[in-house]
Amino acid sequence: MKILLLGSGGRESALAWKISQSPITDALFIAPGNGGTGAYGTNVNIRPTDFESIDKFVKDNAIDMIVVGNEDPLVAGIYDYFESDPVLVVGPSKAGAALEGSKDFAKDFMTRHGIPTARYRSFTAGTIEEGYRFLETLRAPYVLKADGLAAGKGVLIIDSLDEARRSLREMLDGMFGNASATVVVEEFLSGIECSVFVLTDGNGGYRVLPVAKDYKRIGEGDTGLNTGGMGAVSPVPFADDVFMAKVTERIIEPTVKGLIADGITYRGFIFLGLISVGGEPMVIEYNVRMGDPETEVVMLRTDSDIVELMQAAAKGDLGDLELRHDPRTAVTVMMVSGGYPGPYPKGKIITGTDKVADTILFHAGTAVDDGRLVTSGGRVIAASSYGSSIADALERSFRAVGEVDFEGKYYRRDIGRDLMAL
Ligand code: AMP
Ligand code: GLY
Repeated sequence: MKILLLGSGGRESALAWKISQSPITDALFIAPGNGGTGAYGTNVNIRPTDFESIDKFVKDNAIDMIVVGNEDPLVAGIYDYFESDPVLVVGPSKAGAALEGSKDFAKDFMTRHGIPTARYRSFTAGTIEEGYRFLETLRAPYVLKADGLAAGKGVLIIDSLDEARRSLREMLDGMFGNASATVVVEEFLSGIECSVFVLTDGNGGYRVLPVAKDYKRIGEGDTGLNTGGMGAVSPVPFADDVFMAKVTERIIEPTVKGLIADGITYRGFIFLGLISVGGEPMVIEYNVRMGDPETEVVMLRTDSDIVELMQAAAKGDLGDLELRHDPRTAVTVMMVSGGYPGPYPKGKIITGTDKVADTILFHAGTAVDDGRLVTSGGRVIAASSYGSSIADALERSFRAVGEVDFEGKYYRRDIGRDLMAL
């Protein structure tokens, strides 16, 4: 198969790493890729939302399958764009991508199909007075979510009712542009989160990938601003067989069947952002792609041919293909640019990557400039390792993080610590 992978982050590096190992991969192109993806295939300078250029590339190079890493092309309808073409697209149709593209749609979907999630209501500028009254029925803290895509920043968790009222008005007034023209207000859930990934063929067939936990805040002890994710661990000890049986019965099955019942074409990855509330799983959010940095551990623990699985899913029949989980633990520690998730410098020279042996360095915000590897983004490299335990895998990743250097390098030293304490 000739495969075109869209995206440029650590997630795409991990997907490219895995795809390149498949015996049925004849060629892999990554658009646009980063400073590390050239190790697994050929970088192509095309933006993932530039469908016309992708179309031309697909035809010129006889691409068989497009794997979509990030959500933007999916929400913009890449599946539908190529629906009548022979090229396979791994991902949902535009209607399915609304599970991530519109939180109001996602909440409505969950309510319709009896999937456990926080109590909520949605408001627009015209119904703001009802929004104020709904806030009064909730207990602090208050959760306000921009309906549309807001680059991971559209969720506010607020302690005081006055501030929540003010934020509701500001959001509806355009705090996140058009993305917050509708705001979902919901009850706060208290518990521990994990990420469950499902590959579905849109005809009732699905496979569950290894479960991961990511660390979203910039500061140790889960403090400070939200980031794209500072590290991840798999497996997740509390997501045991009992918990996963509940997830399957109450969340995965109704989601897969609900999509079919609603007539929504979905042949790709579903990302369930879950929270365990006293051992009972509830959905915090859906995403319509793999997670980043979760993929950097999930691919390490996927012990089956991901290309074969994605191809079957995209064709609409997973058949009896197995998706085996590697029993080892995997962790990833993200090295980020100083200042991230605020403004940060780019173009800093990265050294030491050649000294790293038993850790896989998945590049994210890196580029090759004049033959030198430099930083080009906030999240720079995900140091990903196997181990016999979280502590064992972390030791390897931290050693690698010590070898790799660039000015302003920062990382969290407490990845996985909460899970080790359970
Ligand atoms: P989201 O963009 O929906 O993933 O929200 C970002 C983060 O906000 C989540 O990962 C949770 O940590 C937190 N969050 C969102 N909704 C809730 C909720 N209802 N209760 C508690 N925390 C929440
Ligand atoms: N790590 C969370 C996400 O990919 O959205």
